[in-house]
Amino acid sequence: EPLIATEAIERRVAELAGAINVRYVDGVSIVAVMTGAIPFVADLMRRLTIPVTVSVVAARSYVGTAQRAGDLRMLLPVSAEQVAGQDVLVIDDILDSGQTLGVLFEDIRAMTPASLAGCVLLRKERPDIPSRIEMDYVGFDIPDAFVVGYGLDYDGLGRNLPAIYAMPAEPG
Ligand code: IMP
Ligand code: MG
Repeated sequence: EPLIATEAIERRVAELAGAINVRYVDGVSIVAVMTGAIPFVADLMRRLTIPVTVSVVAARSYVGTAQRAGDLRMLLPVSAEQVAGQDVLVIDDILDSGQTLGVLFEDIRAMTPASLAGCVLLRKERPDIPSRIEMDYVGFDIPDAFVVGYGLDYDGLGRNLPAIYAMPAEPG
Protein backbone atom coordinates (compact mmCIF):
# COMPACT_ATOMS: atom_id res chain seq x y z
CA GLU A 1 0.00 0.00 0.00
CA PRO A 2 1.83 3.14 -1.16
CA LEU A 3 1.83 6.42 0.78
CA ILE A 4 1.63 8.24 -2.57
CA ALA A 5 0.44 6.33 -5.65
CA THR A 6 2.03 6.65 -9.09
CA GLU A 7 -1.03 8.38 -10.55
CA ALA A 8 -1.09 10.95 -7.74
CA ILE A 9 2.60 11.71 -8.36
CA GLU A 10 1.92 12.14 -12.08
CA ARG A 11 -0.95 14.54 -11.48
CA ARG A 12 1.01 16.62 -9.00
CA VAL A 13 4.12 16.77 -11.20
CA ALA A 14 1.94 18.11 -14.02
CA GLU A 15 0.53 20.80 -11.70
CA LEU A 16 4.00 21.84 -10.54
CA ALA A 17 5.22 22.01 -14.14
CA GLY A 18 2.27 24.24 -14.99
CA ALA A 19 3.21 26.67 -12.24
CA ILE A 20 6.88 26.66 -13.28
CA ASN A 21 5.95 27.27 -16.95
CA VAL A 22 3.99 30.34 -15.89
CA ARG A 23 6.67 31.77 -13.62
CA TYR A 24 9.68 31.25 -15.90
CA VAL A 25 8.40 32.25 -19.34
CA ASP A 26 11.92 33.39 -20.37
CA GLY A 27 13.51 30.13 -19.28
CA VAL A 28 14.98 28.46 -16.23
CA SER A 29 18.27 26.90 -15.22
CA ILE A 30 17.49 23.72 -13.30
CA VAL A 31 19.96 22.37 -10.76
CA ALA A 32 19.01 18.78 -9.93
CA VAL A 33 20.25 17.22 -6.71
CA MET A 34 21.54 13.73 -7.34
CA THR A 35 20.69 10.99 -6.89
CA GLY A 36 17.22 11.17 -5.43
CA ALA A 37 15.85 13.80 -7.83
CA ILE A 38 16.36 11.69 -10.97
CA PRO A 39 12.78 10.44 -11.57
CA PHE A 40 11.20 13.70 -10.39
CA VAL A 41 13.38 15.91 -12.59
CA ALA A 42 12.98 13.57 -15.55
CA ASP A 43 9.19 13.65 -15.31
CA LEU A 44 8.95 17.35 -14.45
CA MET A 45 11.28 18.66 -17.16
CA ARG A 46 9.38 16.84 -19.90
CA ARG A 47 6.33 18.84 -18.93
CA LEU A 48 8.16 22.17 -19.16
CA THR A 49 7.46 24.15 -22.33
CA ILE A 50 9.89 27.00 -21.55
CA PRO A 51 13.62 27.08 -22.44
CA VAL A 52 15.32 24.78 -19.91
CA THR A 53 18.92 23.98 -19.07
CA VAL A 54 19.78 21.26 -16.58
CA SER A 55 22.85 20.66 -14.46
CA VAL A 56 23.39 18.35 -11.53
CA VAL A 57 24.98 18.48 -8.12
CA ALA A 58 25.55 15.52 -5.85
CA ALA A 59 25.19 15.59 -2.09
CA ARG A 60 25.33 12.79 0.44
CA SER A 61 24.16 13.03 4.01
CA TYR A 62 23.19 9.45 4.80
CA VAL A 63 25.49 6.57 5.56
CA GLY A 64 24.21 3.02 5.02
CA THR A 65 20.99 2.22 6.81
CA ALA A 66 20.74 5.50 8.78
CA GLN A 67 17.31 7.12 8.74
CA ARG A 68 18.50 10.54 9.90
CA ALA A 69 20.94 12.77 8.03
CA GLY A 70 24.57 12.89 9.14
CA ASP A 71 27.26 15.29 7.94
CA LEU A 72 26.71 16.66 4.46
CA ARG A 73 29.28 16.02 1.76
CA MET A 74 29.09 17.77 -1.62
CA LEU A 75 30.38 15.10 -3.97
CA LEU A 76 29.73 17.14 -7.11
CA PRO A 77 29.58 20.91 -6.56
CA VAL A 78 27.53 23.58 -8.33
CA SER A 79 28.94 24.73 -11.66
CA ALA A 80 29.17 28.54 -11.61
CA GLU A 81 28.41 29.02 -15.31
CA GLN A 82 25.08 27.24 -14.85
CA VAL A 83 23.89 29.61 -12.13
CA ALA A 84 25.64 33.00 -12.41
CA GLY A 85 23.13 35.52 -13.76
CA GLN A 86 20.55 32.77 -14.33
CA ASP A 87 17.06 32.17 -12.99
CA VAL A 88 17.91 29.08 -10.99
CA LEU A 89 15.48 26.43 -9.80
CA VAL A 90 16.95 23.80 -7.49
CA ILE A 91 15.07 20.50 -7.60
CA ASP A 92 15.34 17.75 -4.99
CA ASP A 93 13.32 14.75 -3.98
CA ILE A 94 12.60 15.73 -0.38
CA LEU A 95 13.03 18.49 2.17
CA ASP A 96 13.79 16.91 5.53
CA SER A 97 16.12 18.78 7.90
CA GLY A 98 16.84 21.27 5.13
CA GLN A 99 20.58 20.85 5.56
CA THR A 100 21.23 19.80 1.97
CA LEU A 101 19.24 22.57 0.34
CA GLY A 102 20.40 25.13 2.89
CA VAL A 103 24.05 24.51 2.05
CA LEU A 104 23.33 24.35 -1.66
CA PHE A 105 21.38 27.64 -1.61
CA GLU A 106 24.32 29.33 0.15
CA ASP A 107 26.73 28.00 -2.48
CA ILE A 108 24.50 29.17 -5.33
CA ARG A 109 23.80 32.60 -3.81
CA ALA A 110 27.56 33.18 -3.64
CA MET A 111 27.57 32.75 -7.44
CA THR A 112 25.04 35.60 -7.92
CA PRO A 113 22.08 34.05 -9.76
CA ALA A 114 19.43 36.41 -11.18
CA SER A 115 16.94 34.56 -8.95
CA LEU A 116 16.92 31.41 -6.85
CA ALA A 117 14.00 29.15 -6.01
CA GLY A 118 13.56 25.61 -4.72
CA CYS A 119 11.27 22.75 -5.68
CA VAL A 120 10.85 19.46 -3.84
CA LEU A 121 8.45 16.62 -4.46
CA LEU A 122 8.10 15.92 -0.74
CA ARG A 123 8.30 18.09 2.34
CA LYS A 124 8.60 16.22 5.61
CA GLU A 125 6.86 17.54 8.67
CA ARG A 126 9.67 18.61 11.06
CA PRO A 127 8.22 20.85 13.79
CA ASP A 128 11.54 20.37 15.62
CA ILE A 129 13.24 22.52 12.93
CA PRO A 130 11.16 25.73 12.82
CA SER A 131 13.84 27.74 10.96
CA ARG A 132 14.07 25.28 8.07
CA ILE A 133 14.65 26.69 4.58
CA GLU A 134 11.46 27.53 2.62
CA MET A 135 10.65 25.90 -0.73
CA ASP A 136 8.79 27.68 -3.55
CA TYR A 137 7.26 24.53 -5.02
CA VAL A 138 6.21 21.51 -2.96
CA GLY A 139 4.55 18.38 -4.32
CA PHE A 140 3.30 16.79 -1.11
CA ASP A 141 3.56 17.42 2.61
CA ILE A 142 4.19 14.13 4.40
CA PRO A 143 4.52 13.02 8.02
CA ASP A 144 7.95 12.47 9.59
CA ALA A 145 8.43 8.90 8.35
CA PHE A 146 11.25 7.48 6.27
CA VAL A 147 10.04 6.99 2.71
CA VAL A 148 11.36 5.10 -0.32
CA GLY A 149 10.54 5.00 -4.02
CA TYR A 150 10.44 7.44 -6.96
CA GLY A 151 14.09 8.35 -6.40
CA LEU A 152 14.21 7.98 -2.63
CA ASP A 153 16.36 5.15 -1.32
CA TYR A 154 16.92 3.11 1.79
CA ASP A 155 20.58 2.07 1.94
CA GLY A 156 20.86 2.58 -1.81
CA LEU A 157 17.81 0.56 -2.84
CA GLY A 158 14.22 1.39 -3.78
CA ARG A 159 14.83 4.42 -6.01
CA ASN A 160 13.29 2.60 -8.97
CA LEU A 161 9.89 2.03 -7.35
CA PRO A 162 7.24 3.99 -9.28
CA ALA A 163 5.29 4.94 -6.12
CA ILE A 164 6.33 6.21 -2.67
CA TYR A 165 6.20 3.94 0.39
CA ALA A 166 6.71 4.61 4.10
CA MET A 167 9.31 2.41 5.81
CA PRO A 168 8.50 0.80 9.17
CA ALA A 169 10.01 2.85 12.03
CA GLU A 170 13.53 1.98 13.23
CA PRO A 171 13.53 -0.18 16.37
CA GLY A 172 14.57 1.71 19.52
P1 IMP B 1 17.94 17.04 4.52
O1 IMP B 1 19.30 17.59 4.18
O2 IMP B 1 17.84 16.53 5.92
O3 IMP B 1 16.81 17.97 4.16
O4 IMP B 1 17.77 15.73 3.69
C1 IMP B 1 17.60 15.80 2.36
C2 IMP B 1 18.16 14.57 1.69
O5 IMP B 1 18.13 13.43 2.53
C3 IMP B 1 17.28 14.28 0.52
O6 IMP B 1 17.86 14.83 -0.63
C4 IMP B 1 17.23 12.79 0.50
O7 IMP B 1 18.26 12.32 -0.35
C5 IMP B 1 17.53 12.33 1.89
N1 IMP B 1 16.31 11.94 2.62
C6 IMP B 1 15.66 12.66 3.58
N2 IMP B 1 14.59 12.02 4.03
C7 IMP B 1 14.54 10.86 3.34
C8 IMP B 1 13.62 9.75 3.35
O8 IMP B 1 12.62 9.69 4.08
N3 IMP B 1 13.90 8.73 2.50
C9 IMP B 1 15.00 8.74 1.68
N4 IMP B 1 15.86 9.76 1.64
C10 IMP B 1 15.64 10.81 2.45
MG1 MG C 1 18.99 13.50 -1.96
